[in-house]
Amino acid sequence: MICLGIESTAHTFGCGIVSDSNGKCNILANEKSSFTTEEGGIKPREAADSHLENAADVLKSALEKAAVGWKDVGVIAFSIGPGLGPCLQVGATAARALALKHKKPLLGVNHCVAHVEIGKALTGAIDPIVCYVSGANTQIIGYETGKYRVYGETLDIGIGNLLDSFGRKMGIGFPAGPVLDKMYFEKKEYVKLPYSVKGMDLVFTGLGTAAEQKIGKVRKEDLAYSLLHNAFAMLTEVTERALAHTEKKELVLTGGVAASKALRAMMETMCNEREAKMFVPPFEVCLDNAAMIAWLGLVMHKAGNRMKAEESAVLPKQRTDDVAVNWLNKK
Ligand code: FE2
Repeated sequence: MICLGIESTAHTFGCGIVSDSNGKCNILANEKSSFTTEEGGIKPREAADSHLENAADVLKSALEKAAVGWKDVGVIAFSIGPGLGPCLQVGATAARALALKHKKPLLGVNHCVAHVEIGKALTGAIDPIVCYVSGANTQIIGYETGKYRVYGETLDIGIGNLLDSFGRKMGIGFPAGPVLDKMYFEKKEYVKLPYSVKGMDLVFTGLGTAAEQKIGKVRKEDLAYSLLHNAFAMLTEVTERALAHTEKKELVLTGGVAASKALRAMMETMCNEREAKMFVPPFEVCLDNAAMIAWLGLVMHKAGNRMKAEESAVLPKQRTDDVAVNWLNKK
């Protein structure tokens, strides 16, 4: 079967087309347009307007790239949440209209769960702890008794937002992650900054503010190193505890921040020490993308999940652990 997926939770409007051959995920197209601003930060209405403007072109190029027609599409999936309301509305409206016009079943799927499922499908991880680190999201996730549980998460901002807002103050363009990552490996000494783990959860704003106050007072490479070192060590600590608690032996690192060599190295060391295997999916599905929405749509549809158009209202605050997982062969 073939699924068309639509992603529009934040900056990215995407259309992905995925087929399932013997349970394997085949990405036929994964097209997108991204809304960016010069000064940083996202204005939801402006992003939604940009998505609306680009939707038809992105859809057309996905269908062309995949070389499929509407008769080939078996189900249409869209991101139902979590995300920015106005942005989610654009994707949901497009999906509803296409489903109605072409008489296809419609499924709203959770964006974070989609990262988890495509991460598993493309790496071969079976029952991993997933560390999902992006601009808006930071969660340590794992499957347990019918749901993807969140073992730990940020209590304030996503780790990507921490890096971007610090980068902005430092005069680095968006996204700041790659530049900061390079500076990380050029450090001479550690600058003392807060380290804030609350139980299994993470707090990043205090760390960000303390680092910003030191801009211009210490070597910038040392400051970048220290910020990344603390943020990633906090994340690694909580991820390790989730692995220990669940006794899972696989880690999937995904989300845009998974591109960081510094983070990968730290997680890799931790995994090696506890004989767990670390996987990082191809980068195009670590970032927000629609192929993952299409893949989760396919998997859920195959498990018998159905949704009426009137049940398809977007859920901007939907949590990973709100979703009943009925597509895994587990108790
Ligand atoms: Fe994402």
